Amino acid sequence: MAEENKSSLDALTSLCKRRGFIYHSSEIYGGMPGFWDYGPLGCELKNNVKQAWWQFTVRGREDVVGLDATIIMHPKIWKASGHLDTFADPMTMCRDCKKLMRADQIADIYAEQKKKPQPKAAGADFFCPYCGGELTEPKPFNLMFKTVVGPIDDPSNVAYLRPETAQAIFAQFQNVTDTSRQRVPYGIAQMGKSFRNEVTPRNYTFRSREFEQMELEFFIRPDEAVELQYGRVVTLADKPDLDGPVQDDWGWEVWHKYWVEQRKKFLNAVGLPTERFVEYWQKPDELAHYARACVDIEYDFPFGRQELEGIAARSDFDLSQHQKFSGESQAVFDDPLKQACKKLTDAQKAAFVDKVRKDLAARGKDPAAAEKFCAGLFDGKYVPHVIEPSAGVDRLMLALLCEAYEEQKIAGEKGGEDVRTVLHFNPKVAPVKAAVFPLVRKDPAQEKMAREIFEKLRRKVNCMWDVSGQIGRRYRRQDEAGTPWCITVDGQSVQDGTFTVRDRDSMEQKRMSYGEFLAMMDEALEF
Ligand code: GAP
Repeated sequence: MAEENKSSLDALTSLCKRRGFIYHSSEIYGGMPGFWDYGPLGCELKNNVKQAWWQFTVRGREDVVGLDATIIMHPKIWKASGHLDTFADPMTMCRDCKKLMRADQIADIYAEQKKKPQPKAAGADFFCPYCGGELTEPKPFNLMFKTVVGPIDDPSNVAYLRPETAQAIFAQFQNVTDTSRQRVPYGIAQMGKSFRNEVTPRNYTFRSREFEQMELEFFIRPDEAVELQYGRVVTLADKPDLDGPVQDDWGWEVWHKYWVEQRKKFLNAVGLPTERFVEYWQKPDELAHYARACVDIEYDFPFGRQELEGIAARSDFDLSQHQKFSGESQAVFDDPLKQACKKLTDAQKAAFVDKVRKDLAARGKDPAAAEKFCAGLFDGKYVPHVIEPSAGVDRLMLALLCEAYEEQKIAGEKGGEDVRTVLHFNPKVAPVKAAVFPLVRKDPAQEKMAREIFEKLRRKVNCMWDVSGQIGRRYRRQDEAGTPWCITVDGQSVQDGTFTVRDRDSMEQKRMSYGEFLAMMDEALEF
């Protein structure tokens, strides 16, 4: 990490503490590594980020519905999902200083050390990056937090705090399908807390032990069902219009790319310009065995380029696993597919099964599964596949804070140079939308009018009232909070009902009526 980046993160963390965005959890007791609290401005920012995601992903669409499931679920869910057996990081310990660390992060930790330790044992190439001591053999460490349900502390009562919100969506797929009048392709979204007992929580809130996720599981037909129903499967080679309405004949590849583009649109809308992040398409050997594609959207944090969120094409892995472990069918019945298949001759069906058999073999799957899978399809039944855009609330907030933070050199009031610290949040996520002040505090007419404006406006958006200090200082306080507009009621206001609106970024002031201000604000806040 370059020194200047390090100092910009230091300046940001100090602003976040000073202005009430982020505090150490349990600070009066010395804090807890990997746990963070959001203060008055931080929780407004967080709520806005979540609301924006919900509006964009759920309410703004007809094909996505929401879910709010429990954090503790039946432990078999984590067996079926694979988390119990494989959700682990390689952990090592220094035999000398006893520090625990992730074996795969040693090179990063070493690179961050100002004073590089040398190995205590001559020639050792796997040594403690803190003291040079000997490290233990790396061992897998499961990241799930364990707890006990009920009063008896017995292994049979062990449960886990969810390490992702996604699994509840799979576990409730049939209930939501039965009760929401949605038909595949459609999605289920959930936001909420997730917990991971990270070996080394690092980089401020970036890798925490308790955090929030915003996940969508968008269920699609298997390509084979699309082909049987529509006689074709649209792929990216067909150059489909991803900005237009979604289409029934899209294959998984198109749906996946569509959701990558949707996520980029969302990030733009909340204040991350496209040129500030990169798409990393995982290489075939990096993909999980069940995944067909996975894109990480990465952002240049001050501590390096890191994953902000991911969009994975997970095949039918998750629902099939829950079907296997619960014994409950996770298939859907698709009548239009059944009707389309009724028109096929036996020879056409046999040719189709043969084609599927070859496709499965080419993808390293068991070709013998083709017969049963196709019999289900001909009957209008299949286990849906899924595209999963999965984002972290805290990580996105950190990216938005890094992106918004600026120390601007401006002309000082008394001549010379001054530094203005400003958070250039997009108004949609800004914790405070507007601040209202009387120019002269002791002028009762100005104060009365400003107060009336404040009272009216706070019924619509989060506003702040400030009468203390010079007007310039009040503006600066709002700049640090990222408030896009400051409304000042002055002598003219009392005469004609208008007021000045100071724009945070340009620092220009415009005179407006209340109606004009509302129209401008509504436009800036609309999705
Ligand atoms: N269901 C898929 C899933 O959970 P993931 O890549 O492990 O995938 C998705 O997590 C997102 O959740 C990440 O891209 C990140 O934004 C966020 N996230 C994961 N672990 C985190 C942690 N320890 N602290 C903060 N955010 C985290």
